[in-house]
Amino acid sequence: MLKTMTIFGTRPEGIKMVPVVQALNKEPAISNIVVNTAQHREMLDQVLELFAIVPDYDLDIMQANQTLEELTGRLIQKISQIIQQEQPDLVLVHGDTTTTFVGAYSAYLNQVPVAHVEAGLRTHNIHSPFPEEINRQMVGRIASYHFAPTDTNRDNLLRENIKEETIAVVGNTVIDVLLQISQRESFFPPELETIFNNGKKTILLTSHRRENLGTMESVFRAIHRLTTAHSNVQVIFPIHKNPKVRKISLDEIGKNKNIHLIEPLEYAQFIQAMDKAYLVITDSGGIQEEAPGLGKPVLVTRDTTERPEGVAAGTLKLVGNSEELIFKEAQHLITNSLAYDEMAAIRNPFGQGNSAEQIVNYIKKIFLEEKAALV
Ligand code: UD1
Ligand code: UDP
Repeated sequence: MLKTMTIFGTRPEGIKMVPVVQALNKEPAISNIVVNTAQHREMLDQVLELFAIVPDYDLDIMQANQTLEELTGRLIQKISQIIQQEQPDLVLVHGDTTTTFVGAYSAYLNQVPVAHVEAGLRTHNIHSPFPEEINRQMVGRIASYHFAPTDTNRDNLLRENIKEETIAVVGNTVIDVLLQISQRESFFPPELETIFNNGKKTILLTSHRRENLGTMESVFRAIHRLTTAHSNVQVIFPIHKNPKVRKISLDEIGKNKNIHLIEPLEYAQFIQAMDKAYLVITDSGGIQEEAPGLGKPVLVTRDTTERPEGVAAGTLKLVGNSEELIFKEAQHLITNSLAYDEMAAIRNPFGQGNSAEQIVNYIKKIFLEEKAALV
């Protein structure tokens, strides 16, 4: 029996590891331990409940306004303890959060091989996104197996001298979960339905990145200007639970009646909201991959993106944190239906929806077939 351990702790890692956990659970020759660090509490609990995943371990790490140093310190001791107790054959981590890096580093310290899901994304600027770029680069050094969503991601890894035979291009598991949720009948809050049905064009906004905390006001000012300049435009903004984000949002746009500030939506509802929206404005990583899958143009309020495939395809546009540029580009898509239709028609470059299956097949091949053949 192969013993794997999946470690995750934030909302996006949870969403994107759901299909991997499901696929591992289907394999009779694999026993998977689920470790939730709970770096996020409510926002990840929503995801686990929706997909009925009950972690074997819940480290309950989150504290309000946690610093990266505190988080790292608490995580490394607790994760290492569990790895020592369970002695897995392989640890799987996802993406680029503090949980991801510490999960991989703890496995390395305990000499357990690491598989990195969503490997090879790079901006090549270690300060943007902060600290995610350095987290994923460090996990790239530690990991023995790299599941890259795209060829570009694989090429990034090859340039870092990662051995080709340890990389598999498998698409992004976010598409697996997106397809799964799109096929389910899901509840949608009637109060949100009413907002969507009021005849206005709806922009779905999210904003949370640490490196944007000092400049987020500009994004909100652009949004405020849009809703005042165009009476047929409204905004729905599910606010991240980070208290710093909440304060800036409330201070800047809390009083604007055409900007609906709401609690984070449960994943299935968020996907429906994205589907009903006209346009998405975001600094999120995952949403850059999902929105094109639903035919929604995305303005990315960041200076860099580790998803250049979307920019090259034309489905994402980088607008940074400049009030003027965000206003101008959003206004263009609101008023120019040709430009809008062109951007909305582009095909999603991030996968076909069978990434988790490919990941588990690869693990089976390495650990169950090739190693067994050596015995
Ligand atoms: C983290 C990740 C980031 C990812 C983001 C997804 C790191 C360094 N950052 O950033 O890569 O894009 O998650 O959302 O790993 N909070 C709650 N309830 C929750 C979640 C968060 O109250 O369910 C509040 C807490 O006060 C917490 C704060 O938000 O201290 C920040 O959470 P944290 O995980 O440290 O950083 P994020 O900005 O969420
Ligand atoms: N999401 C959600 N509810 C919301 C906002 C976002 O379920 O109210 C989902 C979204 O569909 C995507 C993920 O959360 O899959 C993105 O998370 P976030 O933006 O927090 O992190 P990032 O992707 O930037 O790391």
